[in-house]
Amino acid sequence: MPLISTTLARVKPSPTVAMTTRAAELKASGKDVIGLSAGEPDFDTPQNIKDAAIAAIQAGKTKYTAVDGLPELKSAICAKFARENHLSYTPDQISVGTGGKQVLYNALMSTLDPGDEVIIPAPYWVSYPDMVLLAGGTPVTVSATVDTGFKITAQQLEAAITPRTKWFLFNSPSNPSGAGYTRTELKALTEVLMRHPHVWVMSDDMYEHLVFGDFTFCTPAEVEPGLKDRTLTVNGVSKAHAMTGWRIGYAGGPAELIAAMRKLQSQSTSNPCTISQHAAIAALNGPQDYLQSNKALFQQRRDLVVGMLNDADGITCPVPEGAFYVYPDISGCMGKTTPKGQLIDSDEAFAAALLDEAGVAVVFGAAFGLSPNFRVSYATSDEVLAAACRRIQDFCTGLR
Ligand SMILES: Cc1ncc(COP(=O)(O)O)c(C=O)c1O
Repeated sequence: MPLISTTLARVKPSPTVAMTTRAAELKASGKDVIGLSAGEPDFDTPQNIKDAAIAAIQAGKTKYTAVDGLPELKSAICAKFARENHLSYTPDQISVGTGGKQVLYNALMSTLDPGDEVIIPAPYWVSYPDMVLLAGGTPVTVSATVDTGFKITAQQLEAAITPRTKWFLFNSPSNPSGAGYTRTELKALTEVLMRHPHVWVMSDDMYEHLVFGDFTFCTPAEVEPGLKDRTLTVNGVSKAHAMTGWRIGYAGGPAELIAAMRKLQSQSTSNPCTISQHAAIAALNGPQDYLQSNKALFQQRRDLVVGMLNDADGITCPVPEGAFYVYPDISGCMGKTTPKGQLIDSDEAFAAALLDEAGVAVVFGAAFGLSPNFRVSYATSDEVLAAACRRIQDFCTGLR
């Protein structure tokens, strides 16, 4: 009998983690490597949030809490949803977990039966299909293209829905493409969903606060209130408040679903870290002014990276609406050979050669379900980004 379960054997390890680890190993061995693969803000957690955590420790708030979150945190989350998304939830409609990742995982684990399908637009966040597989479901990917700015159309969504569709898993702004759906584009999708009452909607709004220019963030239950009773609106403090290591994510949704997720969490991890929950209360209830300044900084970085990548031979890089990623198309590099003789026949080969010959770590597009592309995370300084993009330009110029 094999040790590892057949379910786990279907799942791939995270390629983004693999690339970040590989880049760190090369750096440790003395190679000059610029890492653009990690998906976290380069800012420190704001001081008021750290202070709240320290105060919680000093006050002895170091014990278990209610399984899916402290009442004060749930109140802060209800207030956030009302203030920023015009969504009215009661505390029994809120779930708090160890990162947005656990919340998404709990929702899929508590609802999927074998054969249930989950529609996932590609390019997608690497964990979605594997979480669906772990939960025993079937991922159904719908591919967007560079021409539509990496957004799927209403027709594509309609065509993907079957009687077995359980969830539509939506993520805007997107990891990896940065694509954000406008209200009109999202409305076209919600109109399709209104015609299929058996389909639930999971909206991953993790990058809500990172949107640029005059783009306005919106979420499905807000755009179409008729969907609210079958929508799970997922969010978290990781990206907006530079709190990736604190591990707090949350969701609002129907009480029956939230109760199921609580049951699962009660038999797996129990409550998320008590101290982090106190920090998250400070993040949600405290001053929000740094969100604006972070946004301005990220927009400047996006413009720098998009401009420099579009100047590289064989690369086309659309301008994304949000997040801190770009997802350039590298069709123009395919079939070429590097100075060291590596044939670029896939985006995986491109990323491997870029790391090996130019010392830049990016994540290849196949990991996100749409090729040939690669993902750049621009959550780093202008100097580092400019140096990395110059290396990418030189690498592309050297392809024959
Ligand atoms: C689209 C998306 N959803 C969810 C998450 C998970 O966030 P957390 O760190 O809160 O688990 C990430 C993190 O990279 C993400 O990119």
